[in-house]
Amino acid sequence: MVARIQTVAFRGIEAVPVDVQVQVASGLPAFTIVGLPDKAVAESRERVRAALIASGLSLPPKRITINLAPADLPKEGSHYDLPIALGLMSAIGAVPSDAAAGYLVLGELALDGRISSVAGTLPAAIAANGRDMGIICPAATGAEAAWAASDMDIVAPANLLELVNHLSGNQILPRPAAMRQPDTQALPDLSEIRGQEVARRVLEIAAAGGHNLLMIGPPGAGKSMLAARLPSILPPLDPREMLDVSMIQSIAGEMAGGRISSRRPFRCPHHSASMAALVGGGLKVRPGEVSLAHNGVLFLDELPEFSPQVLDSLRQPLESGETVIARANARVTYPARFQLVAAMNPCKCGMAGTPGHTCRRGERCVTDYQARLSGPFLDRIDLRIDVPAVSAIDMMGDGKAESSARVAARVSAARKIQRQRFLEMGQTSLHTNAAASPDLIEKIATPDPESRALLVEAAERFSLSARAYHRVLKVARTLADLGGELQVRRPHIAEALSYRLASSLA
Ligand SMILES: Nc1ncnc2c1ncn2[C@@H]1O[C@H](COP(=O)(O)OP(=O)(O)O)[C@@H](O)[C@H]1O
Ligand SMILES: [Mg+2]
Repeated sequence: MVARIQTVAFRGIEAVPVDVQVQVASGLPAFTIVGLPDKAVAESRERVRAALIASGLSLPPKRITINLAPADLPKEGSHYDLPIALGLMSAIGAVPSDAAAGYLVLGELALDGRISSVAGTLPAAIAANGRDMGIICPAATGAEAAWAASDMDIVAPANLLELVNHLSGNQILPRPAAMRQPDTQALPDLSEIRGQEVARRVLEIAAAGGHNLLMIGPPGAGKSMLAARLPSILPPLDPREMLDVSMIQSIAGEMAGGRISSRRPFRCPHHSASMAALVGGGLKVRPGEVSLAHNGVLFLDELPEFSPQVLDSLRQPLESGETVIARANARVTYPARFQLVAAMNPCKCGMAGTPGHTCRRGERCVTDYQARLSGPFLDRIDLRIDVPAVSAIDMMGDGKAESSARVAARVSAARKIQRQRFLEMGQTSLHTNAAASPDLIEKIATPDPESRALLVEAAERFSLSARAYHRVLKVARTLADLGGELQVRRPHIAEALSYRLASSLA
């Protein structure tokens, strides 16, 4: 007889149905898994056998064949343990044969029969709900599944025995509750930053329009400090964004206790990060930092220290808002619409441009260092500013700077204007000016004749690329939104141009 259990395979953040078929037939004792299993799935055999024995069930000395259908879809990961074990238990009569009908099943088994947490429970639960099914998942990720729907059937056992007891009706498990990450933990506040008026203003603009930002300045000027305060002025995620962010975290196995947070992600990978770590992929396809920063911020500190190839691999997601990982047998897409914030020293020794300083290596100290950033990469950064060291006078001044809460209020107002405009234009998925397409930005940021002249002049003098032209328009639109103005005017264009052209970047 063949027992069948429903589970899923992950393709990007999509959960594709997989049918686990278990046959126990007479013949020489054997245990085979077929259907393109990867190493983790093939090893499932040993975990399932041990977990069943630990739970007091022994495998019959028969010929056991497991087929994971469809056979041509690659199966990765350890979450097939539980469906395989459940299929076996059903085949040998340890649980009623129809007990798991109507459930999607996923979970990894420990040798002692415990069910360990797996990645991807949230997308699996959403897929299950879409197919009017319930889900059986590890206790550790039950809270995650509870976010899929409030009325869906969720069974989240801690071990195989609990599952057997639940399915045979001996001891029913309670449904796990959806939990939210409390947002009470205070974020670092902008009021701690002395001076740096320009940088504060630009940080506000970046937050308001979702623009990419590069800060250039000597060590100790407060660049990392400024970047770390960006989350405190960004608006919270809306429910739709929150779900998208959580889906990616779930696939990456990074959802803290299955709790959902309304805070925007802020990822700061170290400059030794590999391309796979940053854009995703690797031995096992998983989302990279760019996807984990979806709807939030990717902060690259000490930008030129990243490998140039790694930085250039960011160009595609920066443009399209998603990453595509091509593999021999599959092509996987993850969402990656993030705001890039970067900080760097002007040169290797860090002090170029500081009055009275001459680099020991001369001009090359600057040029070699900055040459690590390619033109096309820099072209995608709308706001580039110099962050000079704060003067002693500024540091000693006792006037407290404006707090994050007040800046956040202005950012939120500007974002509401943008969102409203996009909704009126039927662009329901757009939230920020930075994410608008070139066509759209030309429509919403039409400069008046005076500012058009300025733009044309600047475009010719500084040979702006078409991309740069649109990006200047985007920033100008945000400046007008921050000022509560309908029309993009000359001062907006002039200010936007100044953030693109005036930095000490060679
Ligand atoms: N504008 C500032 N206001 C207050 N403290 C500052 C400021 N700039 C730098 N600091 C101090 O200097 C330290 C180093 O700043 P940091 O942001 O790491 O500099 P950078 O990243 O530019 O090298 C901070 O932890 C803070 O104590
Ligand atoms: Mg720093």
